[in-house]
Amino acid sequence: MPRNPRNSEEPRNCCSMLKNSLASLLLIAAAACARQPAPATVPPAPVAQSVRDADSFANTDAVRVTHLALDLDVDFAKKQLAGTATLDLDNFGRTSWLVLDSRDLTIRSVKLDDGTAATFAIGESKPAHGAPLTIGIKPTTRQVTIAYVTSPDAPALQWLEPEQTSGKKSPFLLSQSESILARSWVPIQDTPSVRFTYDATVRVPKDLLALMSAENPMQRNATGVYTFRMTNPIPSYLLAIAVGDIEFRALGPNSGVYAEPSVVDAAAREFSDLPKMITATEELYGPYRWGRYDALVLPPSFPFGGMENPRLTFLTPTIIAGDKSLVSVVTHELAHSWSGNLVTNATWNDFWLNEGFTTYIEQRIVEKLYGTQFADMQWELARTGIRKEFQTSEPRSQWLKLDLAGGDPDDAPSATVYDKGSLFLRKIEETVGREAFDRFLRSYFDTFAFQPMTTERFLEYLRANLLSNVPGAEQKIDVNAWVYGPGIPPNEPVIQSAAFTRVEEQSKRFLAGGPASAIDASAWSTQEWVHFIQSLPSTLGAARAAELDRTFHLSDRRNFEVLEAWLEKAIENEYWGADAAIERFVLAQGRARYVRPIYQKLMATEHGRAFIARVYPVARPGYHPIVQAMLDKIVNPGDAKAAQ
Ligand code: BES
Ligand code: ZN
Repeated sequence: MPRNPRNSEEPRNCCSMLKNSLASLLLIAAAACARQPAPATVPPAPVAQSVRDADSFANTDAVRVTHLALDLDVDFAKKQLAGTATLDLDNFGRTSWLVLDSRDLTIRSVKLDDGTAATFAIGESKPAHGAPLTIGIKPTTRQVTIAYVTSPDAPALQWLEPEQTSGKKSPFLLSQSESILARSWVPIQDTPSVRFTYDATVRVPKDLLALMSAENPMQRNATGVYTFRMTNPIPSYLLAIAVGDIEFRALGPNSGVYAEPSVVDAAAREFSDLPKMITATEELYGPYRWGRYDALVLPPSFPFGGMENPRLTFLTPTIIAGDKSLVSVVTHELAHSWSGNLVTNATWNDFWLNEGFTTYIEQRIVEKLYGTQFADMQWELARTGIRKEFQTSEPRSQWLKLDLAGGDPDDAPSATVYDKGSLFLRKIEETVGREAFDRFLRSYFDTFAFQPMTTERFLEYLRANLLSNVPGAEQKIDVNAWVYGPGIPPNEPVIQSAAFTRVEEQSKRFLAGGPASAIDASAWSTQEWVHFIQSLPSTLGAARAAELDRTFHLSDRRNFEVLEAWLEKAIENEYWGADAAIERFVLAQGRARYVRPIYQKLMATEHGRAFIARVYPVARPGYHPIVQAMLDKIVNPGDAKAAQ
């Protein structure tokens, strides 16, 4: 693969990056840029070498991190991690610069492998991207050791007070590195196109357990010193750490669940199908390559439903519904062990390769374990979600291949990448047949295991290995319309849930004026309830919403999925009898997908804005920094504009 000569000669943004740096560094930079000859032979190119990741400052076209060794003290009082990161380098470009990503890190020193102190400078900072950390190295340098401290406001880290945990006795630390937050706790090439192995030594208060996305110690020890090892190369966004009063329950020989002591038994019951899920996925897509698969249930401020940290999926406790009705979040995170963790989106513009594939596989596992009726309901809920979102979203954001154009990649998650992405794969399956598609996907994961993947490369592989063998498939699918166009193409797969059709009949009767008491919901599942609630219009009116609430006690539901759908509808209809329930809901958990639409809808009404003025200041400290930033923009739109 030809190298881009411009990139191999100079670090990314060479000149702009150094604008604010030390004068001495500038001199060295000029010398280095001028001095560096083009290498005589081109080394074997890593797959994504020609891919430019606009969300990283790293000069990965000249040098790559191959291994990370962390040595960290976890200080709850100071809310900081302090220690060293030692990076092994493959300096194939023989560059004199190592540019890393960093965000709010204090760098104490940098040493080269020959023991000398290295020159370094932190460049200009951008809001979501942090700042380049440029280190002067030698063409022969194989290792650098960076001593550093994180900021108490590091956006990847949430430091919970004991009161914010369910045990109320011990503090808790949790990380969230995806998309580009790893750089706020580790100075690293923070791009999904680079992979490295890692090990870590972590010191924590003696009564707490530390866990990472790695081989885990599994049990507390008296010293408070824990060591970790990840022997498969991973991208930086899969670095993860959690520290707290955590216990373990085995679910199978190779899987189990961690959680706070008061939660761990309920978690073990809810996720008891995990071993079956692993087997089902292996049957479809080949061996699970990460050794153990454990899940960690976090305190309710965890900002996501789940996060696929390798060997240690992070989960929100809000999916412990008591009836396994929300376990598809676990099948989703497990599926990422193939789509995402094994074959990884090369840039965040290719995010659908992670999330669309995973949503499709999630559905296949759900179908295998819980049947087509359940899967059909989930497909239809997703389809409703796309329809709703595409009414207001920008057409360009509806292409599977995104153009984040230097914005915050945390804006990438959307119905496009998850649901249009999975629908596209379902369209391919429908066109070529399930058997051929399953065989194709399995070989895709085998062929590209532990490699980054771009949309273009995937399409090339798809055409060469699948579509070209099935006459007319390319035309029937209309690949380009799905990937490089807005909306859902007219050839979309037909999705229909018979159970939902029955729910709609009941909802029609109610909307035609029938009493709530005539609705026969006695056997409705979580999904049927959500569908019913979503079928109600925003013009229902407060009185009829109140009638539903009196009849079915919707504001008192414990199932978070039903409750969230209901509270959105209550707000849309200005049914303020739900006020107390809304307050409980936003104080009880901080999952972005739940709190964001609630605050958004509240902001649209005067009553809602007054509610926010009262409740948000109380709720905010309990949210993860990512969610705080997201909600600040919603509740103070003026401030966000002013800060730009
Ligand atoms: N990898 C995502 C979470 C994520 C996406 C974190 C983008 C940061 C940036 C995870 O696998 C995910 O998709 N979680 C979903 C659950 C899923 C069942 C749709 C969530 O948290 O809602
Ligand atoms: Zn996902």
